[in-house]
Amino acid sequence: MDNDVLRQAPLFSSLDDEAATALGGSMAETKLRRGDVLFHEGDSGDKLYIVTEGKVKLGRSSADGRENLLAIMGPGQMFGELSLFDPGPRSATVTAVTDAAFGSLSHDDLLRWLDGRPQVARGLLSQLASRLRKSNDVVADLVFSDVPGRVAKALLDLADRFGRTADDGVHVHHDLTQEELAQLVGASRETVNKALADFASRGWLRLEPRSVVIMDLERLSRRAR
Ligand code: CMP
Repeated sequence: MDNDVLRQAPLFSSLDDEAATALGGSMAETKLRRGDVLFHEGDSGDKLYIVTEGKVKLGRSSADGRENLLAIMGPGQMFGELSLFDPGPRSATVTAVTDAAFGSLSHDDLLRWLDGRPQVARGLLSQLASRLRKSNDVVADLVFSDVPGRVAKALLDLADRFGRTADDGVHVHHDLTQEELAQLVGASRETVNKALADFASRGWLRLEPRSVVIMDLERLSRRAR
């Protein structure tokens, strides 16, 4: 398992090398192929996961089969803790969008690890608080922003986490289909495609399969506001 990546997770950020090695040693490794499901919304769960390679999507589906994506997570990001702190079924389905690997820790081991380590608990609380802040932003955007604004914001968020700056712009290899991008912003594929085509025609970005190259970050950021 890649310890450098594990150390980016909030669970590890306050630990010294010795404690981080001990915690890493109690984690098991899980691997998925692209398209595999790690667990389904509604399952019972007893583990928390940290992504060490690749990307996953966290999604929910409606009774009539429509899908909404809550988040895309990549290396160093953690999920699977809600069913521990608020006991109940898994709140989302986790599916690999690329081949992916994870470190997993059982909820029992995590609780034992938190005992007497308030700084680690604080790291987890800080992640939960930042997720709540982000969820509030998502709800506000669904009410106050139009679809192109939400698409621009989603692209900037993906660029922030997965972007690589090159001479011709920021290359964002998000690994999502246009359908998945639409599920992430809560709009139809047609409306999202129209927004992307409009941004491309203005020269703000270039569309490539499962990725975009952002050529005018400033204008895209202004559209996201
Ligand atoms: P759990 O409910 O155990 O399994 C699904 C996980 O998805 C959940 O724990 C959280 O870790 C994660 N999750 C749920 N909702 C969100 C959200 N809005 N943003 C990011 N991650 C989430």
